[in-house]
Amino acid sequence: MPQLIDGKRISQQIKDELKEETAKLKEAGIRVCLAVVQVGNDPASTIYVNNKKKACAYIGIESRSYELPEETTEDELTALVERLNEDREVNGILVQLPLPAHIDEDRIIRTISPDKDVDGFHPVSVGRLWIGERGFLSCTPAGIIQLLKRSGIAIEGKECVIVGRSNIVGKPMAALLLRENGTVTVTHSRTKDLREVTRRADILVVAIGKKQFITADYVKEGAVVIDVGMHRDENNHLCGDVDFDSVAPKTSAITPVPGGVGPMTIAMLMNNCVETVRRREDTL
Ligand code: GUN
Repeated sequence: MPQLIDGKRISQQIKDELKEETAKLKEAGIRVCLAVVQVGNDPASTIYVNNKKKACAYIGIESRSYELPEETTEDELTALVERLNEDREVNGILVQLPLPAHIDEDRIIRTISPDKDVDGFHPVSVGRLWIGERGFLSCTPAGIIQLLKRSGIAIEGKECVIVGRSNIVGKPMAALLLRENGTVTVTHSRTKDLREVTRRADILVVAIGKKQFITADYVKEGAVVIDVGMHRDENNHLCGDVDFDSVAPKTSAITPVPGGVGPMTIAMLMNNCVETVRRREDTL
């Protein structure tokens, strides 16, 4: 039987640690405040945003909500982000993606101050990650590192294969596994003989956004498999990029969907919110 990597339990553990840290900060008169910006009312985004606000409330982080209409212009959104950059009471800024098509996401991400970039999407945060400087880590890959470490899975010296090269998951995942001394390969839609590469993996991270794409023949016996995907199957049940039923028996450890990587993203966002204050206090 493979080890089931329990993201619900581990994310709860992290949130409880942060709750304690935030309470101590409060005693010292230091508060943490996250500004959450949503443009339009995409139902999926509304669920994500509400979950982020709930997590803030649990931990003791103040959250300020900015719900803007779909017609908001790029200049108006930029002006709001600039105001939040200047606001000394706001520690972190989160602009929920995707933004409406008439707004240039890259411009908005670049407008967020790197000191308040709790998503870790700003080019400065990305650069810091690659050169090994302290900075905000992209939440989903940072959550995966925590899942591995807190499940007792060593990364050093392991063959790590990532399927998918997005800016939000695949690329930062590569940087983080490399920082943990893994040997890292990033595969993508143009990779020749994907199966041959994934079968080399001791640790296989799958983030391609294709329902149940990775079947048992892509996986080495005893591998650790991390599934970042989130879809609905033909019975309307949640499932991932990995065909869990065929793959799990071959693995030594695997994340379920739901309850694997998903809950970790918000826990690491909360960690980044507290990190804004840790960074400031360290440099005082
Ligand atoms: N939309 C989906 N995931 C995310 C995320 O991690 N951050 C932001 N800002 N938007 C998202």
